[in-house]
Amino acid sequence: MKRQEQIRKDLIEVFNRRYATKKFDQTKKISNEDWQIIMEAARLSPSSFGYEPWKFLLIENQQIKEDLKDLAWGAVNSLNGASHFIICLARNDVTADSKYAKYMVEEVFHNQYEEHSPRTDAFRNFQANDFQLNDSKSLFEWACKQTYIALGNMLTTAAWLGIDSCPIEGFNREKVSSYLIDHNLMDPEHYGLSHMAGFGYRDQQITPKTRQPLDKIYEVIK
Ligand SMILES: Cc1cc2nc3c(=O)[nH]c(=O)nc-3n(C[C@H](O)[C@H](O)[C@H](O)COP(=O)(O)O)c2cc1C
Repeated sequence: MKRQEQIRKDLIEVFNRRYATKKFDQTKKISNEDWQIIMEAARLSPSSFGYEPWKFLLIENQQIKEDLKDLAWGAVNSLNGASHFIICLARNDVTADSKYAKYMVEEVFHNQYEEHSPRTDAFRNFQANDFQLNDSKSLFEWACKQTYIALGNMLTTAAWLGIDSCPIEGFNREKVSSYLIDHNLMDPEHYGLSHMAGFGYRDQQITPKTRQPLDKIYEVIK
């Protein structure tokens, strides 16, 4: 019981210590060991039907960082000081009949791919009828939603490790996408741009949380 109490306390502390860091200490670098755990949190994240419709680009190239500053106003703080800077891509091609689905079923789920297996049929039906994911734009937005689950896990994992972070949507999607395509960093046949994130160590006080009380956002239905 004592242990459970401690876990509860630790969890809330971690959620309070995670905040959207505006100023990073550019002299402090995340260790490779810690970074691998953050990426493992992304890799192990859940996704709809398990198709993992994401790719994470760790941007180490200084010129790319400089170029992004003009296109991504919300990323400037991270680009200036974060130890690690991520661009997350979401797939736009995950359908039951895609090459990618066949690859996932065979290479990752270790099943035989069949056009009309119960899994493939259920997935096709879900996309067509339940969620009406019938074009690459809606497939892309559906995949983006899932990348945010990985993002949340990465932010929380970083906080557990004493690492600060900032999630980023402050960019012109069209301009950054064109940049990534022009620099061969994103193949638009398979991917679109979802979000960015910076990870590192703060060079400022933690911003205290401003949140609505639970009763404004939570209702128990009896
Ligand atoms: C999806 C998403 C996009 C965000 N984009 C930016 C951004 O571009 N730049 C930034 O400085 N903060 C960004 N934030 C941080 C939010 O402003 C911040 O999380 C929110 O105000 C709550 O504050 P806290 O995270 O410090 O608790 C983003 C947060 C989320 C979840």
